[in-house]
Amino acid sequence: MKRIAVLTTGGDAPGMNPAIRSVVRYGISKNLKVLGIMRGWWGLVNEELREFDHHSVSGIISQGGTILKTGRCPEFAKKEYQDRAFNTIKKNAIDGLVVIGGNGSFTAAHHFGETYNVACVGIPASIDNDINGIDLTIGSDTAINTALAAVDNIRDTATSMERIFVIEVMGRECGFIALSVALAGGCEDVLIPELKPDWERMCHDIVQGNIRGKLSWIVVVAEGAGSAIDIANKITEFTSLETRAVVLGHVQRGGRPTAFSRDLALRLGEAAVDSLLKGRRNIAVGLCCGKISEVDFATAIKKKEIKAEYWYNLIKTLT
Ligand code: F6P
Repeated sequence: MKRIAVLTTGGDAPGMNPAIRSVVRYGISKNLKVLGIMRGWWGLVNEELREFDHHSVSGIISQGGTILKTGRCPEFAKKEYQDRAFNTIKKNAIDGLVVIGGNGSFTAAHHFGETYNVACVGIPASIDNDINGIDLTIGSDTAINTALAAVDNIRDTATSMERIFVIEVMGRECGFIALSVALAGGCEDVLIPELKPDWERMCHDIVQGNIRGKLSWIVVVAEGAGSAIDIANKITEFTSLETRAVVLGHVQRGGRPTAFSRDLALRLGEAAVDSLLKGRRNIAVGLCCGKISEVDFATAIKKKEIKAEYWYNLIKTLT
């Protein structure tokens, strides 16, 4: 292994930059040439890459987003684009590829690596925490704290004006952010894609809370479980109580990575390079039960189990 390349793909996540820094600097310390590929799979397809040195990653440790840029590339499912990407790999004598991204990125890396016999190692980075077999993705801790700060702010106005709020957080297929924020924010209810909603019970609880003199009520909804506006309207329709809807959206994707997201990213960058040096391929490195370990791509891309009932019951019990 002499030359490796690194790319970020899918939705950006706070902590991608520290991960890039770690791959580049640790790789160089192991006498590897490290290439940075721009714009995810697009950069591999269009041969948009350059060799990075120690200084190429200076000053990025505290920055959100990714200096390599990222994006979605549905075209990469087509053989024609994969062939072009493989040409870039051959032409630039790339012996190993570090793919920093989430579930969709690993699905593509799994297929590409297997089909073209390219050594791919993944670093899980996505605010959704949707990688099976690992505890936490890079960026999820930052996103949860960003969303939590917003929930705390909303609680102030909700309590002062005695209102019901529905707050929509990100998570198309995974309710992890919603559950985590609802628990940490002391929210009264949560809706996630993994659990069927019980509207009647939810509205009954709100009315009972109102009778008990509860000053505010916050329902957190993962985007994959419905729209905050529709849910707020539904609650008003059922209960005749005034509601407000807030969509947090992409604010959750940006910002300075927390210490946890940075440390995780820096440790996983090192682990990914070590895995490549050991001849490992078709795997992701990640925190598994608190330890840095390897998880094969086939396992990592399966639907993640998040123990939704446990979280939900705890949120409701502590309300
Ligand atoms: O990266 C994950 C994520 O933030 C999801 O939570 C969200 O559903 C999606 O990306 C939004 O994607 P885009 O920024 O492409 O609209």
